[in-house]
Amino acid sequence: MSANKVVVGCQWGDEGKGKIVDLLAAEADVIARFQGGANAGHTIIVDDQKYILHLIPSGIIHPGKICYIGNGVVIDPFGLKEELDFLTSKGIDYKGRLFVSAAANLVLPYHKLIDSLQEKNRGTSPLGTTMRGIGPAYVDKVARHGIRVADMFNRERLKKRLEYQAVLKSNVLTGSDDERADLDRTFNELMGLSDLFEELAADVSLELAKAQKKGLSILYEGAQGCMLDVDLGTYPYATSSNTTVGGALTGLGIGPKAIDQVVGVVKAYTTRVGAGPFPTELVDDTGEELRRLGDEYGATTGRPRRCGWLDLVSLRHAVRINGVDSVAITKLDVLDEFDEIKVATEYELHGQRLSEVPLDLVDLAHVRPIYKSLPGWKTDTTGITNFADLPENARAYLEFVAGDLGVTIALISTGAQRKETIFV
Ligand code: GDP
Ligand code: IMO
Ligand code: MG
Repeated sequence: MSANKVVVGCQWGDEGKGKIVDLLAAEADVIARFQGGANAGHTIIVDDQKYILHLIPSGIIHPGKICYIGNGVVIDPFGLKEELDFLTSKGIDYKGRLFVSAAANLVLPYHKLIDSLQEKNRGTSPLGTTMRGIGPAYVDKVARHGIRVADMFNRERLKKRLEYQAVLKSNVLTGSDDERADLDRTFNELMGLSDLFEELAADVSLELAKAQKKGLSILYEGAQGCMLDVDLGTYPYATSSNTTVGGALTGLGIGPKAIDQVVGVVKAYTTRVGAGPFPTELVDDTGEELRRLGDEYGATTGRPRRCGWLDLVSLRHAVRINGVDSVAITKLDVLDEFDEIKVATEYELHGQRLSEVPLDLVDLAHVRPIYKSLPGWKTDTTGITNFADLPENARAYLEFVAGDLGVTIALISTGAQRKETIFV
């Protein structure tokens, strides 16, 4: 029996979690997604096939693995249907091995409409959300008037719940000519999916407990990244869920002992999509070069990602709040061409040195990173599968980072393909 692992992003998302979960899924029996929604875009590349998954766990690509979407995820039922059709078109059979928590809240068309209106209302300082309705859906959940998967199985109940939304959201929905405001349409479309969801629905917490009892190995898949956590990230420039390990417990209904190891995914440099403080951001040619070499465009929205050097200060925060045991370092190959590679080891704020992320966002927006410069390796590392085959300077870079963070390196990714990986 191998250990039950949770995989979390340690930066601002897009660290390469999809690839890492796909790799670790080979050793697991069950893969469970615990938070977020279709704001996520997890890319998996196997030979000439590319899969971008938003809601479905990245383990689904492996035939026979059981996949769960937990109660902590907000599910866009129409988006999920599209993803299922996509899998079918790729010859992946999900039937009987993908299950969705009946207690998960739904993201409905009006949530997306509200998301876009709220972004407009934020005027000159929008959050830069993915417009997937995530914030408004979590607001409804916490306000205790959300609509859950289970509500789709009772026509009358669903109708009543939608009628109540019409009252609650009348300022937005009444008189709107946007089709996302049309609750009758939403009702009819949801009814069209109710049979599918009856097949998919499960008590995920209970199923995971049974799997554990049988000695099966479980992989818990996070979305977004630590710095986007609604409590512990760069609030308000964050997403609306707990992207950190605590989210796995509440988002799946498991206890802390159901997790044996925490694997943090760390991109060898930093990216961020959307607004908010990003201390090591490079708005110069080097930043452009990172974007070009790393092909840093959003997997969900196609937006260019902001790019910068690795930030050990924010990574220490990620390691501490998640209790990270080991890291998977991705996209090492993207750094191959640089003469020097910088790493922020501390911040400076008003003449003072900081080795931890300041809690006040206003402070974080004003810090200046203090860099250590390491020599580049100027060698193509793409596809290397042995640590010993890496250039000496690349090994030194990795060892410096892992040493500072006090973690071991579980694996290193040297390309987008499944096989372009070093298992350390
Ligand atoms: P996620 O949201 O954390 O799953 O990451 P995304 O899929 O949004 O973004 C990661 C991108 O980097 C995807 O396009 C991956 O195919 C790609 N990728 C992952 N690992 C590597 C790597 O080691 N090298 C390179 N060059 N690309 C990688
Ligand atoms: P994966 O799982 C990167 C960002 C958005 C925005 C903020 C809030 O692929 O790593 P939201 O739509 O959640 O209300 O947007 O969070 N964001 C992500 N950035 N990767 C993601 O997911 C993200 N999901 C949300 O860009 O800044
Ligand atoms: Mg992504």
